[in-house]
Amino acid sequence: MGWNSWNAFKLDVNENRIRSVADSIASNGMKAAGYQYVVVDAGWKYASRASDGQLMADPNKFPAGMKSLADYIHSKGLLFGLYTDAGEQDCDSAGPGSKGHEKLDAQTFAAWGVDFMKEDWCASEGLDAQTAYRAMSEAILETGRPMLLSVCEWGDHQPWNWAPSIATMWRTTGDNEACWDCGRDTYQKAGGYPRGWTLILDAQIPLARYAGPGRWNDPDMLQIGNQPMSLAESKAQFSLWAVLAAPLVAGNDVRSMSGEIRNILLNKEVIAVDQDPAGVEGTLVEKGDGWNVWARPLADKSEAIVLFNRLTNPQPITFDAPSIGWTSSTPFQVRDLWEHADRPVSTGTFRGVVAPHSVIMIRATKTRDPEPVSVR
Ligand code: GLA
Repeated sequence: MGWNSWNAFKLDVNENRIRSVADSIASNGMKAAGYQYVVVDAGWKYASRASDGQLMADPNKFPAGMKSLADYIHSKGLLFGLYTDAGEQDCDSAGPGSKGHEKLDAQTFAAWGVDFMKEDWCASEGLDAQTAYRAMSEAILETGRPMLLSVCEWGDHQPWNWAPSIATMWRTTGDNEACWDCGRDTYQKAGGYPRGWTLILDAQIPLARYAGPGRWNDPDMLQIGNQPMSLAESKAQFSLWAVLAAPLVAGNDVRSMSGEIRNILLNKEVIAVDQDPAGVEGTLVEKGDGWNVWARPLADKSEAIVLFNRLTNPQPITFDAPSIGWTSSTPFQVRDLWEHADRPVSTGTFRGVVAPHSVIMIRATKTRDPEPVSVR
């Protein structure tokens, strides 16, 4: 869990901004809730390398340098993430890429105190994705500094097949924009941008089995708190990303967020689902016209269930216990994870009226095994 500069600030990053974001995360409840990494995305680099080949921070944006920023973030009890690219150039031509400089760049990041490296895939023509990311993974290992590798090649080369052994997380799609389903028309094409988050959600359905503890599908950073996402949509994205066992990376300006957005990002019961120790990714278990039921099995044998309304009017949605392998006579306790309330025990089904573009999220826990049927 963490925060990344891209969705809120794009290339407009600088040390004062990042320091004040770290101050907010350390004091507004986010750190206590588990948000750990403060990640500076594209926009931090100087346009060329130093004469010895080292990457340099843009001195206008980061006059005190990256080591100093890392020290500051560490002094807040947080971890520091930094961006690079596997190709010739960062995305948006924001600086030199790491192609052919993996060892030096990993050493530089390690010397600065970086804990998390996001490696993008722009200007990568002619590269083999697996080989390129493996080179960086090995370079990181050689530094001796624990540094999480976040592979960001947008799912173009099925990273779920090869990234689990070399990285902690891998992007599964192109970028998540702050919209419901924008990009519908281009989304099947490689590099089809932008993408509303519901399209990204649907692309995760076949991928659940590739995730597990220490190896995560990454459906991209959250757009919660960024316009034009509504509060209902924000709550829905948070719930579904938790069911997906996704890295929860806030992407808003956390220094100025509303109380409602803060309450979404800090919902401890939903975060507990995301961070469940069994590390099983959930998936779609039932669907109909404009509605879904998503479910994720949890370590204590309970299930996180999300009733998801994709329509613009309220609709009743029913979860059927057999969709997750429980019987239709299974009694289960119901905990509403947004209302923070226990509901009456349900048997076999749970039904709720779900607001437009929103969710009801529950934790369902079997009360006991059903009575054996008596045979006379
Ligand atoms: C790509 C990545 C994004 C972000 C930008 C930066 O689009 O997928 O997450 O890092 O580049 O330019």
